[in-house]
Amino acid sequence: MKTVLRSLLSETLLWRSVRGLKRFLAAPRLDAPLSAEQCRGTIAWLNPPPACEAKAAVAVQLRLENQSGVTWSSAGSFPVTVRCQWITRSGEPFDAVPTVVRLPQPLFPGEPQELTATVPAPDVVGDFTLELCFAQADQAFASVQTAVPVVGRRTTDIDYHAVFRTANLTDNHWWVVGAYHSQEQYEKSSRERLEMLVKQGLTPDSRVLDIGCGTGQMAGVLAPYLSDRGGYAGTDIGAEAIAFCDRTFRRKNFAFKQGGMTSVPFTEDGTFDCAIFFSVFTHTFTDETALLMAEAKRLLKPTGVIIADVITSPLVERGAGHRGEMVVNRDHFLRLAAMLGYTADVIGRWPWNRHAERFMFKLRQG
Ligand SMILES: C[S@@+](CC[C@H](N)C(=O)[O-])C[C@H]1O[C@@H](n2cnc3c(N)ncnc32)[C@H](O)[C@@H]1O
Repeated sequence: MKTVLRSLLSETLLWRSVRGLKRFLAAPRLDAPLSAEQCRGTIAWLNPPPACEAKAAVAVQLRLENQSGVTWSSAGSFPVTVRCQWITRSGEPFDAVPTVVRLPQPLFPGEPQELTATVPAPDVVGDFTLELCFAQADQAFASVQTAVPVVGRRTTDIDYHAVFRTANLTDNHWWVVGAYHSQEQYEKSSRERLEMLVKQGLTPDSRVLDIGCGTGQMAGVLAPYLSDRGGYAGTDIGAEAIAFCDRTFRRKNFAFKQGGMTSVPFTEDGTFDCAIFFSVFTHTFTDETALLMAEAKRLLKPTGVIIADVITSPLVERGAGHRGEMVVNRDHFLRLAAMLGYTADVIGRWPWNRHAERFMFKLRQG
């Protein structure tokens, strides 16, 4: 009877006004750690973000409920806050410090509140989980998690067709598809790549398939290197790039053809010694990468090899990013290669960012 009366009374306007005034005059503070019993509550996602862009901010809407007998507040020497932490796929907290969100008003028992928190995303792509919990000092409770893939930034996406269509290839062929500061640097890089290919077994009589040949960085150094018994076939999705190569590198045993995203337009199956993908798998999605490796297999001799570079990160489960920069999980890439019958050797390895590395692989058949 007493409880029924109290609950009826609690709904009256008068009672709510008195309670509001009391809360206003003496805003609750927390000046002592909560006991385990007082740490009961829930956080529910109202709009779990399906994905977010690296370096962006993600707004999460939450419903908070305090199911303990005491009021939680972000005021006082032991404030209760909401902590947002990115977790990597191996279950470790990502190295960015957690975002701590104050309760905008005290959270009274049995009076749920909605909260919108803005959480900065990691600065790298990866398959992350976002974990939220209440926290008081070192104590965390009522945590909830949701998977939030952190994908590449739209601003770093590249439309190669548009790039080639609008560029002045005659003057700018050396920087249009690469990150070179000068033509000398571009040519030095071509020579170094040629040296690396020679070290891996390339001879003047080799037949080279250059997939994603761009404006002919490798055609330029291979033209004086390959003999008439050797040969070169270059392909790219960019029609303008192919037209530029065609008029620039004129040799009887050199051919250029526009290809598709997952198809290589040459038909001389089983005749190439080496298929090169330089800075190409850094721009293709993993299914495209696999299909291009299958195309290379069709065109390679049984002794032929692929030389390819990829950006790898353990934060990524399979692949993540945009055409501007694609990042793969190294084991996933190697599994795809193995499924296609390739065995991989690492022939170069460089740090890419704090979490990612760039690998140069040689993929042998068998
Ligand atoms: C960063 S550039 C590198 C060009 C050249 N390999 C080099 O190292 O100078 C990437 C090139 O790959 C081409 N490309 C991207 N995806 C491709 C695909 N699926 N098939 C063929 N070419 C592709 C682009 O058009 C562009 O020319």
